[in-house]
Amino acid sequence: MRVMFLGDVVGRSGRRIVVERLPGLIVDLALDFVVVNGENAAGGFGITEEIARDLIDAGADAITLGNHAFDQREALVFIERQPKLLRPVNYPAGTPGRGAGLYMARNGARVLVVNVMGRIYMDPLDDPFAAMEREIAACPLGEQADAVIVDVHAEATSEKQAMGHLLDGRASLVVGTHTHVPTADHQILPHGTAFQSDVGMCGDYDGVIGMDKDEPLHRFTTKIGRARFEPANGEATLCGVVVDVDEVSGLATTIEPIRLGGRLAPAMPRF
Ligand SMILES: [Fe+2]
Ligand SMILES: [Fe+2]
Repeated sequence: MRVMFLGDVVGRSGRRIVVERLPGLIVDLALDFVVVNGENAAGGFGITEEIARDLIDAGADAITLGNHAFDQREALVFIERQPKLLRPVNYPAGTPGRGAGLYMARNGARVLVVNVMGRIYMDPLDDPFAAMEREIAACPLGEQADAVIVDVHAEATSEKQAMGHLLDGRASLVVGTHTHVPTADHQILPHGTAFQSDVGMCGDYDGVIGMDKDEPLHRFTTKIGRARFEPANGEATLCGVVVDVDEVSGLATTIEPIRLGGRLAPAMPRF
């Protein structure tokens, strides 16, 4: 089976490229399952119910979030009625919504998706490694799940790589999000888990991690805020990975980056 993961959708330009291109990509690449990180979809901060619906209508089978999960306060409510929306699993007990879901792919496979957040250089949540051990134990690959996709939303590359190795052989794909810049280390780890430290964003790369560059530059140079952060609204690059998963073992056989539109060098999976 073939799965695609798209990195953090940032603002209007990020939403536009995903909504425009995802339906065609699902057909052209014969995708069985698509995960999209939507934590920055609403003006760069969080997600609304309408935007979640737009991403799902475009073909997202699950939407993961991160530290911006609840920036739009309505998400605290509608996440309870949107089973395809996941927030980090290691939020405190009692946080609205869920951090893991088991979904049916287009080929009939059962896909476990887990969203987990790192702690280094972030507002720390519960231990992400212990949380992942619990989630994988509750729904193991090859038993209750035919594929396992993990979004590690974290700042530190080291923490994301460590998570990849912890789950190597027990997940189909472990992919990093949050830093909004695609790394060139996509690979299949020794025990069969596809991995990339950061998948990049779906947003305008003529900015500072998807935001209009004026305010970040002002704050870095003067240390005084002048305005709100606004998403950069130039043409977005869609960034993600496409992974082939063995239908018997649930492990990855291929991982290829995909980059379309905007400013980054294009990449298209060679299948
Ligand atoms: Fe993000
Ligand atoms: Fe984030």
